[in-house]
This record gives sequence, structure tokens and C-alpha cells, in this order.
Amino acid sequence: MMTFKDLHFPNGFLWGSAASAHQTEGHNNNDWTEWERLPGKIRDGITSEIACDHYNRYEEDFALAKSLGHQVHRFSVEWSRIEPSQGHWDPKELEHYRKVVEALLARDIQPMVTLHHFTNPLWFSNQDAWLNPESPELFAPYCRKMAELLCDYDIIWNTINEPMVVAVAGYLFGEFPPGMHDYGKALTVAKHLLMAHGQAATQIREVYEERGLEQPQIAPVVSVSYFMPADSSNEDDIELAQYYNELYNHIWTRGAVTGTLPEPLGDGSPYAPLQQSTDFIGLNYYSRILVSSEVDFLAGEEPPKDPNLERCEGLDWEVFPEGYYHVLKEFWERYSVPIFLTENGIGTSDDSLRCRYILQHLQQVHRAISEGVDIRGYLVWSLTDNFEWAHGYSSHFGLVEVDYQTLRRQPRESAYMFREIIENNGISAELQSKYLQAAHTPQDC
Ligand code: BGC
Repeated sequence: MMTFKDLHFPNGFLWGSAASAHQTEGHNNNDWTEWERLPGKIRDGITSEIACDHYNRYEEDFALAKSLGHQVHRFSVEWSRIEPSQGHWDPKELEHYRKVVEALLARDIQPMVTLHHFTNPLWFSNQDAWLNPESPELFAPYCRKMAELLCDYDIIWNTINEPMVVAVAGYLFGEFPPGMHDYGKALTVAKHLLMAHGQAATQIREVYEERGLEQPQIAPVVSVSYFMPADSSNEDDIELAQYYNELYNHIWTRGAVTGTLPEPLGDGSPYAPLQQSTDFIGLNYYSRILVSSEVDFLAGEEPPKDPNLERCEGLDWEVFPEGYYHVLKEFWERYSVPIFLTENGIGTSDDSLRCRYILQHLQQVHRAISEGVDIRGYLVWSLTDNFEWAHGYSSHFGLVEVDYQTLRRQPRESAYMFREIIENNGISAELQSKYLQAAHTPQDC
């Protein structure tokens, strides 16, 4: 019989969900749209097309978020809509995103706006996208435009979503556009995305400064995995796990926090636009990664997974809540910068697994907070089911189910469980017992 304690979260802790433009809006025209048309790139050969039709149904979706108790909503602006050709702004689309922000604020939901979530306008990808040495400067005018549009509203800004995923999935493992397999290029892209984060923050700061407004909170959003040696007694595995932890989780983040271009992205020198770029770190955590010296990780090989761990549908990530605690502790010990949990969740058709996943991960978040880690909020990925990139519509991450035939939205039980957590600003022992009693948990909490 497992025993549980009531877990209280700090006053002012913010709860909500996250989503991105291309995965939900429908009918975008960007580098992903072109990629989806290539044979074999997306599971089942489908394309995002109408997605969740969120572009037309955002009011309905935000009403749902409100009814489910959400206090903050993270979404991205689709750059290709705002600047469909270089230097040309679409007034209709600018107005659209103003209305999106107003729709959130009207419901007393804090908007968290991401400027770049994986997709690029075609004019930008036709100029080599993030391989182009000018790419950070090409990104800057759009960031200024958005800051000018939204600076009068209460916004939390996210610059770039998961730069290392853009670099690794697009330029090393070839699963995302432009489908390359080149380690050197992946590093170049990571460097340019770091500079782009600096450019974005600088543009936002300048606009607020020029208008005499109080500076907003700005953060990049990093994807963080818990790298573990496949064999904890093997020195080579241990060393490799540390190496990939540095490379994937830390080098980019360190650059953003210290305002430099660290090796091997740059020569360690300061990059002026990165000064004052990072008020907090947006941290996305889903799983662990096992590292073994016996397989070629950079070629996409993996050691065998633990058959006893539950998995994320389609992506096959292992459910490993304890890793969340370790990465949170490590980020706090290294940077002492507040953390906002900008994504956590699981793709599954088994909603009871989603309930367990959320609870077990929040237990670890609470454990980190109780040991002094400054964590400001937690967002479930995602509000609704949506287009899961290379996995198409096969992985269901939503608190709210979407019927892709009718586009009808239906909250799942996990959405109501999460609402109860939000209402209590904590997790009662009773709630944990209800959903976790029969489940495997790494420890009693
Ligand atoms: C991304 C989301 C994605 C989620 C699940 C994150 O890497 O920011 O766009 O849907 O993980 O794969």
C-alpha cells in the first residue's frame, strides 16, 4: 500500500497548457508544409492541412481552457503568416494575433507568446534557413513587428522553441526539414539560433524601452532530456552520458544565460544581443535518453529500452519522471535562473496513463521546489490533440480530444484531474491515491 502526502505548490504558481501554430492552426504555408508533401516524411503519408482548425476556433479553444481552470496559455505566432515575403507584413494576420491575445486576456488567461516554434517562412528557408550567417538578423524585423503589435498587452515572451531540436532533428538526424545528416551543420544552426534568441530579446527590449514601458519577462524554451548511462558501472557510458548532457542540455542554455557563444558553437566570446536576453528558462521535459558506448548515438542508434517502463505513443519515449527532478536540480544549481515548465506531457490513447504521467511528473517538480528550485509554473503539452510533426496525427497529447473528422473537442478525464490540481494549487493525497495506487511509481512520495 503506497502512502501519499498532500503536495502544495507556491503561491502564484501558474498552471496551464501549451500549443504551437503549425500543429493546431491549419492551412499554413511554410517549410513544414513543403516537407509534409514529400513522400515518406510524415507517418501514414498525411499532411497537417486543417490540423485542429484552431486558426478559426481559438475562441472555442480558449473558452475550453478557461473552463478547465487554465491560468496561462502558451502558443506560437506563425512567422510565415506575418511576413509571407521578406519585409512584407500582412495586416490581416497581425490583426489575427492581436485578437488571439485579446481573447486570452478577456478570459483572464496569461498569454505566453512564442516567436519561433520549428516552422520557417519559405523565403527564409530558400535562403538556407538557419545555416545562413545572416539568419539571426533576418529573424529580427519580425520579432520587432510582433513586439510593436503586442507590447501594450501583458505578455510573457518566449523567443525560440527548442533550438537543439531544430538543429538535431533537422540537420543531424534528418527527421525534420531540411532533412540533413551533418554534425557540423547542426552546430552551426544551434549557434545561429542562439544569436537569433539574442536578436529577438534585443528587439523586444528596444520596443518596450522606446515606448517607455516596463520591460517584460523574456525567455528561450529549451528541450531537456535526462541522459543516463545504459550501464551505470561502465565508465565509458558514464562519460558519454555526461558529454551528451553538456552538448544537448547545457551549451546553448549557458550561452543564453551568460551572453556568450560557448564552444563548440562559437569561441566563447560575448555576443552583445544576448546580454539581458534571459529572465527565466522555459524548460520542456518529456523523457530520459540512455547512452551506451556500444552504439553510435550520432547515427541515431539507441541501446535497448527498459521493457518495464511505460512509453509515449508513436515517439516511443520511456516514462521516466525521476529524470525531471534531476534536470531541474541541475539547471538550478548551474544557472540560478527561475524556471518555467513550458512543456510536459505524453502522447497516448490511454488517458489513465496521461493522468499518471502528469501526477508522477508533478511529484518530481514538487520535490525539486521543496529543495529550493525556483519554478514558476507548469504547462501541459498540449491543450488539444494536434499535428505531431513527423508522427502526424498518430500521437495524442491533448488534455482535450479532437475528432479529426468533425473537429469536435472533448475534454478527457485528465483535463478534469488537472483542473482539480489547479483549483487546489496542489495535489491532494487522495488524488494521488486515486490515480497512482495501482501504478508503478519510482518511490513513495
Ligand atoms: C515540441 C512540440 C512537440 C512535443 C512532443 C516538443 O519537442 O515543442 O512541438 O509536439 O515536444 O513531441
